[in-house]
Amino acid sequence: MENLGESHMQQKKGRRLILFPLPFQGHINPMLQLANILYSKGFSITIIHTKFNSPNPSNYPHFTFCSIQDGLSETEASTTDFVALISVLHVKCAAPFQDCLAKLLSNAEEKEEEPIACLITDASWFFTHDVAESLKLPRIVLRSLSVSSSLVYAALPVLSQKGYFPIQDSHDLEAPVPELPPLRMKDIPVIETLYQETLHQFAAEAINQMKASSGCIWNSVQELEQDSLAKFHREFPIPSFPIGPFHKYYPASASSLLSQDRICISRLDKQAPKSVIYVSFGSIAAIDETKFLEVAWGLANSKVPFLWVVRPGLVRGAEWIELLPRGFLEMLDGRGHIVKWAPQQEVLAHPATGAFWTHCGWNSTLESMCEGVPMICQPCHGEQMVIARYVSDVWKVGLHLERKLERGEVERAIRRVMVDAEGREMRNRAEILKEKLDLCTKQGSSSYQSLENLISYILSY
Ligand code: UDX
Repeated sequence: MENLGESHMQQKKGRRLILFPLPFQGHINPMLQLANILYSKGFSITIIHTKFNSPNPSNYPHFTFCSIQDGLSETEASTTDFVALISVLHVKCAAPFQDCLAKLLSNAEEKEEEPIACLITDASWFFTHDVAESLKLPRIVLRSLSVSSSLVYAALPVLSQKGYFPIQDSHDLEAPVPELPPLRMKDIPVIETLYQETLHQFAAEAINQMKASSGCIWNSVQELEQDSLAKFHREFPIPSFPIGPFHKYYPASASSLLSQDRICISRLDKQAPKSVIYVSFGSIAAIDETKFLEVAWGLANSKVPFLWVVRPGLVRGAEWIELLPRGFLEMLDGRGHIVKWAPQQEVLAHPATGAFWTHCGWNSTLESMCEGVPMICQPCHGEQMVIARYVSDVWKVGLHLERKLERGEVERAIRRVMVDAEGREMRNRAEILKEKLDLCTKQGSSSYQSLENLISYILSY
């Protein structure tokens, strides 16, 4: 890990940056990693954050934190409808965010502190565009998705006009989408929500405000998404900075909202190289009892050692793993280990880890590719479908579980990746990709240069 510690700190730039993450794990991690990267380049950092899913300021004593009242009731905060939650957050955070930002700006002026150069917000916080404009502060967005999946979201209004929605079983789900190669109909992002219309409005609004922003930062890499970046430049007339993978500079462990179970690392230490399959579906996805049991039996029947993250909340209607049949864990005879939350980057970097069965969140996918770990892709919703298609068909470092989630299917997929020749080929390609990604943040390479460009750009304000 190319950790830019204090010894690598660049001279103070005399400018402060204000960052505002969307309060979900998959968005908080890249924003705080970005904050660390920019801090190491000499900028002072203020993080504005909601009380809901607040990062832990004590893990970042070098930053200033400003908490805003999000006013979420307990019921609102505990909804599993992601769109409903984001919608409420947008309404309730607008005024407190405006007050907080205005205060920070006037304090900096009155106390003659270092000037605030710009605001960096998650691209999904689109209401911040008008706030920044009213305060005459440039706003740069962090898009924490892959470039290709962002382009798919940008294309949703056109697809909608062409009558693609709602996507139904009567459609030929295997048919290619001519507007978005290499996607098939079944890869078009779908999010389960009672508010489909709001979802489409949100996607359109986030894209519009991104177009109107002063620039876009990507946790991605030129070499990985060259064509998508070129298309982005054609469609979005704003400066863009692919400076990833962020975790090559700083790990995400300090911004973890759940405590990471470290015992799994000492258990991995006792396993043979590349013998364990790591299973995790990220911080948001939820599955029902039937699927949970198919995953469990698929893992058990594969006879391959596994480390499985069952996050509380993963299984709808269950506290944790109480729905497993009695005696299930004992039957595994130490071959399987289940934890609530893992130090994922360390797990993926561990020599014993042979493959990653993932939901294809962008952070997880990048983390896996950076360690040369081949994947079994099980996208759950949204852009994860797009990412899975790229992993299996473009980068060819994973196998897409496309059929019904069923134990026999799972067992076969695990053996294909962990044991068969097909898996060895995938691992070889994953190793080559890892070597490419290893170079990206080194001096003179694409992400390094992009980061230099970003710094000069911010300093030009
Ligand atoms: C969500 C969306 O699902 C994803 O599609 C979008 O791109 C970002 O927001 P999430 O589902 O949490 O994110 O997935 P992902 O993007 O992979 O982020 C998960 C993060 O949590 C990763 O950085 C991963 O290292 C970390 N993690 C996950 C842990 O630290 N421990 C775990 O046990 C599991």
